[in-house]
Amino acid sequence: MARTFELETLKMRMGDAEFQQLDLHQRIQRALRALILGGALGPGVRLPATRGLALSLGVARDTVENAYVQLHRDGYIVRREGSGSYVSDAVGAQLRGAGRGTRPGDARRAAAEPGTGLSRRGRTIFGSGGVADQQTVKAFATGLPETRTFPTDVWERLQRQVMKDHRANVLLHGDPQGAEPLRKAIAAHLNLERGAVVSAGQVLVLSSARQALFLCAQLLVDAGKPILMENPGYFGARKAFEAAEARVVPIDVDAQGIRTDLLRADRSGANCVYVTPSHQYPTGATLSLARRLELTRWAGGNGGWIIEDDYDSEFHYDGLPTACVQGVDCYQRTLYVGTFSKTLHPGLRMGYLVLPPELVGAFSRARSVMDGHTPQIAQLTLARFMDDGHYNAHVRAMRKLYASRRETMLDSIGRHLAGIATAVRPAGGLQVPCLLERGWTEEQTIRRAAAAGVLLPGISRLYAGTDRMQGWLLGYASLAGHEIEAAVLRLGAALRTR
Ligand SMILES: Cc1ncc(COP(=O)(O)O)c(C=O)c1O
Repeated sequence: MARTFELETLKMRMGDAEFQQLDLHQRIQRALRALILGGALGPGVRLPATRGLALSLGVARDTVENAYVQLHRDGYIVRREGSGSYVSDAVGAQLRGAGRGTRPGDARRAAAEPGTGLSRRGRTIFGSGGVADQQTVKAFATGLPETRTFPTDVWERLQRQVMKDHRANVLLHGDPQGAEPLRKAIAAHLNLERGAVVSAGQVLVLSSARQALFLCAQLLVDAGKPILMENPGYFGARKAFEAAEARVVPIDVDAQGIRTDLLRADRSGANCVYVTPSHQYPTGATLSLARRLELTRWAGGNGGWIIEDDYDSEFHYDGLPTACVQGVDCYQRTLYVGTFSKTLHPGLRMGYLVLPPELVGAFSRARSVMDGHTPQIAQLTLARFMDDGHYNAHVRAMRKLYASRRETMLDSIGRHLAGIATAVRPAGGLQVPCLLERGWTEEQTIRRAAAAGVLLPGISRLYAGTDRMQGWLLGYASLAGHEIEAAVLRLGAALRTR
């Protein structure tokens, strides 16, 4: 460690960008602190007298005095009457003990490798790459609804009403289970529109479907234990389960959804299965009634749980969607996951779980540990939005819009991508699965499309094992008809240019 004070070193440190917004006395204090912590000023080093340093720096003596007072108060320096100010021995001993200060003049150790120092679980989460949400409207990002025509004026009016009616109460903490008016509105909606059998007391308001899946994994599956999941399936669910250190066991899907014969034959010991019955992700298959009932019998007989992700069931274009599994589950073993990310907008960050009664307490407590609750103002505004009929009106309008965009999408793919990919006509949802023709690979098409500014979300990453379809899952709902047409045309041209 350095034994003497050097004015030039201090001046250099004071020029650090991170100190530029600070007052002068703070800059001096922070720069000296950085030099002490970095080892450039070792224990016992004498600092210049305040008058001398003020002169050298061209500042008022009080400015330096203020900096020294702060350093003294925080224990970095000792001040001896009639003798001067010295770097404290105690700080030096601490730094030696912590192995710091080995690089004189550098206040911070060099950044370690990303992920260093994490737990095994932390490394798993970090290594999973997380979930990269698309943050702008772009062809053909998946899962995005039309946001440009969202009735923000109505929302703002209702939010003002909420603030006026509830006053300071909405600024306080809320119930971890969620605001009662919203839980009632969600229960009423599900009973009427989704054939569910739900009371407001079973609803847990969350910030997203992903938070619901994260909680399910944490509370239902022990580390190292198996959980069953559709193959192919939603990557967000797989990552949530892996984050809980669960072992994900894939169960294949066919044209009728998850194969319940394979479920029955499973010997992994799992008692929990994740499914997307109304619109399988990504194939779009609808789980037949016979399989729905079989699923509930499997859970009822096994003491098992069904995690039913009903993520975009509101958008069925060819007739009504089938009733949810929760509604036909006489064993009450279903945890129903819902989100407003598709029906309203993802920026709202609002989703929910409908729980069997015996799980409500545990899940609410877990939420209270995690982050307390969802913002009250948004919850109460959404409750009014639903109660006043705006929600149903918006969903109806969007259903009509997306149905017409689906036709544009299918038509454009047929015209501009013939020989490259074939679309699988989806009965609903916000995206179209496309399968590649012979001679084309996912990797090659994704790369060429990216160069032309088109995003192609690949399908093969959604499969477990080596038997993977090659293709894309193309989101279209957030794009106007002419944008779809132009983007598919651009994509076709980019792929054909070899
Ligand atoms: C099947 C499925 N479940 C859940 C979600 C996530 O919804 P949220 O934004 O509420 O986390 C998505 C989003 O694309 C999804 O496709």
